[in-house]
Amino acid sequence: MRSRVGWVVESCRLLAGIGKEFDSSQPFAGTRIGTGIHLEPKTVALLLTLRRGGAEVLSTGNLGSTQVEAVDYLRANGVEVVGGPTTDAEEHDGYLREVLASEPDLLVDNGGDLFVRYLEAPYEHLLGGTEETTSGRMRLAPLRERIGRPLLVINDSPVKQFAENYHAVGQSVLQSFLRITNRMTHGQRVTVFGYGACGKGVAANFKSAFATVSVVEPDPVKRLEACLDGFLVPRRAEALAGANVVITVTGARDVVTDADLPDLRDGVILANAGHFPTEIAVGEIAAHSSVKEVRTSGEGIDTVILKDGRRIHLLTGGHMVNLNGPRPLGNSIESMDLGFALQARCLEAVALGKVSDADAVVPVPRWIDEMVASAYLANLDASRVSPSQVGRSP
Ligand SMILES: NC(=O)c1ccc[n+]([C@@H]2O[C@H](COP(=O)([O-])OP(=O)(O)OC[C@H]3O[C@@H](n4cnc5c(N)ncnc54)[C@H](O)[C@@H]3O)[C@@H](O)[C@H]2O)c1
Repeated sequence: MRSRVGWVVESCRLLAGIGKEFDSSQPFAGTRIGTGIHLEPKTVALLLTLRRGGAEVLSTGNLGSTQVEAVDYLRANGVEVVGGPTTDAEEHDGYLREVLASEPDLLVDNGGDLFVRYLEAPYEHLLGGTEETTSGRMRLAPLRERIGRPLLVINDSPVKQFAENYHAVGQSVLQSFLRITNRMTHGQRVTVFGYGACGKGVAANFKSAFATVSVVEPDPVKRLEACLDGFLVPRRAEALAGANVVITVTGARDVVTDADLPDLRDGVILANAGHFPTEIAVGEIAAHSSVKEVRTSGEGIDTVILKDGRRIHLLTGGHMVNLNGPRPLGNSIESMDLGFALQARCLEAVALGKVSDADAVVPVPRWIDEMVASAYLANLDASRVSPSQVGRSP
């Protein structure tokens, strides 16, 4: 029987094409690649593609998102995986350090966890690597000079921005809200914190699901854009007080905290889609003096009951809602296939010396964006069947 991971791997058509090419070109022959990226089915497809290119791959996941099914599949297919699922930051830190202790030649980072630790004990033969996210770029950009090696930021490719952050994150956050809560979106008042690429998609998807959506965004230019896109842009306190659902997707810390408890209405649902589980100050909220009790469910919904009787529901412990809770699927396969094709091509460029040390913490080179976009469009053309061909025997 084909597993879900098998379905995903088969569906990543761009990675399959790159893998076929790598079988003969072997760009990573003799190199070890260390990764600290979500271990879920789409990343399995990426890591197996890197192996086809001749790499030895040693990998660990991100905090709170590792899927056992993905780990088992990787291990069965020759990828060494360090550790397993954990939401314990200290345990996760140990896994990252174990990956780095093997001194990989290339690093695939997601959130800056590997490169930040690499700088604590640098070694000469690191060629460089990639960083997947907005949050990682924010963390690594100030360290550009110390890194001093090619480090290409996948997030800053226009392809990743529109395919994943805008189109896919909003869709998967809406899907996850429905998956976890089984609640209706129609007529709900949803407040989205952050109107970057991800926030725009989240706001648009909930609006199209018949919710009334407000946006809280400190940048007045983006706030204006949200307003002209048809969203309400009330003051922060008003947006919180009116909300049935609050979603953070900013890349910042402490976006919603215990200080907001007086403003939250009974039954509000809080969820985070930003990379780190620090956008909602979960610990401070649970420990606040106004809290009577915290009920955990194991189904991705915890409920904080306040002494005045109000209930605050928190999804997936503040970890990324689309990658956690029961049966998380993450972003759509095609959007991740595009992003991971950028990853594979960027790592190939670093391994083959096609980018320089000056390219530390810079966006994906334009020629790689064009190459990946052209390959995706060519696949679409190849799979189109003209009406005259339908029903005709071959
Ligand atoms: N869940 C996923 O699958 C997924 C996928 C891609 C990116 N991400 C993560 O989502 C987050 C946002 O990514 P992005 O690409 O939209 O980033 P972005 O930089 O384009 O936008 C973030 C926005 O948040 C705003 N912001 C900052 N602090 C805020 C605050 N306190 N209140 C309200 N708004 C605030 C910023 O002004 C900015 O407009 C990052 O952590 C990123 O790593 C998650």
